[in-house]
Parts: sequence; structure tokens; C-alpha cells
Amino acid sequence: MQLKGKKVLITGGTRGIGKCMVQELISQGVTHIAIIARDKKCIKDISEENEEVEFIRVAGDVGNIDVLREAAARIEDKWGGLDILINNAGVVSAGPLEDLPDEEIYDQVAVNYTAVLLLTKYCVPLLKSSEEAAILNISSGMGLIGMPFYAVYGSTKAAIRQFSDAMRRELAPFNISVTCAFPTATATDMMQKFEGMEMDSPEFVAKRAIEGMVNKELHVIFGGEQREKENVLNFENPEKLDAEIAKVYEQKKEASLDHKAM
Ligand SMILES: NC(=O)c1ccc[n+]([C@@H]2O[C@H](COP(=O)([O-])OP(=O)(O)OC[C@H]3O[C@@H](n4cnc5c(N)ncnc54)[C@H](OP(=O)(O)O)[C@@H]3O)[C@@H](O)[C@H]2O)c1
Repeated sequence: MQLKGKKVLITGGTRGIGKCMVQELISQGVTHIAIIARDKKCIKDISEENEEVEFIRVAGDVGNIDVLREAAARIEDKWGGLDILINNAGVVSAGPLEDLPDEEIYDQVAVNYTAVLLLTKYCVPLLKSSEEAAILNISSGMGLIGMPFYAVYGSTKAAIRQFSDAMRRELAPFNISVTCAFPTATATDMMQKFEGMEMDSPEFVAKRAIEGMVNKELHVIFGGEQREKENVLNFENPEKLDAEIAKVYEQKKEASLDHKAM
């Protein structure tokens, strides 16, 4: 896939991995970008920093169905179609399930999962008008391995993996590829609590995820060889992985407390 001239919609393109993906797309010749994020000023700043790009700015919460409908309608009115949809916006609230506020459970599902289903639904007719379209969904390493104290976040991200596989097969006759990326710890606002820990840079994750989409890779898995081994172990011998996680149970619990970026 060639990025030059493509029209892109990205959620959460104002900070972290999403902002780096916007920069990467621009550096590869994309000149039409629609962004959905809540902070109006952050979207304005990005559009002012990149005057050569035509932006559609949608300031709103992806958990609000009207915001998603408005984004698709404005894209249809202005561009008549869409080539690339990047479902990136995500939130996390971790800790023992019984301690999570109900609202934070609902909101993680609404933002990380339901919004992806609905926005993709609204964009499929627009993507079908493109000669070569792509969807890039940002899941998480926790969508591949269920980790304690991240049961809600991890299950929304596992759902994104399943949704991506199903849509890839559903959209195959329309020349719309679907790529799902699985970042591990990445140094963004979402991981502020873990400052000082070794993490991937958002620039690296963005570049590699976009590369995977351009090459029509099905899955882009981060975390190197160690993570690859754990993914295999989780599939082939989950009891063994359970025993390893049990050894660091208290550390994992402690680390999850107050890990919140909503
Ligand atoms: N960082 C990691 O370690 C890591 C690891 C694995 C997967 N991921 C996934 O990667 C994606 C990006 O994460 P990140 O670390 O780059 O996050 P981030 O730095 O916290 O940035 C999140 C972006 O999403 C937007 N956003 C958040 N909630 C939103 C909502 N309700 N409606 C609209 N926009 C919303 C934010 O803008 P506003 O606040 O202005 O709305 C911001 O632009 C997420 O899906 C995350 O789950 C991250």
C-alpha cells in the first residue's frame, strides 16, 4: 500500500502513540487527516503545527455515539470517502476487579471496544469507495495474555483482536486489509505511573504499526523474543504461565494500583 494521497481517520491522534502515528503518516506523504480526541486544544495545536495537511477536527469522546456519527458524516461530506481508519484511542483503569468503580468498567468497554465496533461500522461504506483501503486497530499485549488486575482492560483488547480477525475475513472481497497491533509497555501518558521502567518509545511503536499496516501484516506483535515465548506458553501450556505469574502476584497487584488513564 502507498500512503501518499491517502485519506485517514485516527482516534486519539493527539498524544502518545496516536500523535506519533500522525507524524509518521505526514512524513510519508499523507495530506488528509481526520482526528477524534476530547481535548480541542490538542487537535488545534496539531493542525497548526502541520499547515500543509488538511485536517478534519472532531473534538469529542469516542464513547459518545453522536461523536462517531458526526465524524463519519463530516468525512463523507468533505472527502466523499476514506482510505484508512486507525482505531487507536484507549483508556485503562487497573486493580482488583472488585475494587474497580462500575463507571470505569463501563467506560473502558465503551472507549476501547464499543467505539471501535461502531466507528468501524460507520466507516466501512466510506472505505469501500477506496481502491485500496486499510484498518489498523491498536490492541495490547494484554489482549494476547490475560494478566491479573487488568481483567477489564485486557478483555477489551482481546475483543479487538477477535474483531480484527473477523473483519479481515469479512472485508477481504472489498480490498480492505485489517491489521491489529499489540504494543507492550510504551512510554506515553498512559504509562506515566511507570516512569523509569524500560519501555518502547511511542515513535518506534507508531512507525512499526504503520509499517505493518502498509505491508498488510495481520498482527504486529511487540515485546521481542521474551514476549513471543510467553505468547506461545500461554497458548500451549497456560498452567505453566499461571505458576510463573503466581510467583510475582503481589508485585503485579501493587503495580496495578492507581494505574489509571481515563
Ligand atoms: N502505552 C502503552 O503502554 C500501551 C500498551 C499497549 C497498548 N496501548 C494502546 O495504545 C493506544 C494508545 O495509547 P497511548 O499510550 O498512546 O495513550 P495516551 O498517551 O494516553 O493517549 C491516548 C489518546 O487517545 C485519546 N483518547 C483517550 N480517551 C478518549 C476518548 N474517550 N475519546 C476520544 N479520544 C480519547 C487521547 O486524547 P484526549 O485525552 O484528548 O481525548 C489521546 O490522544 C491505546 O489504545 C492503548 O490501549 C498502549
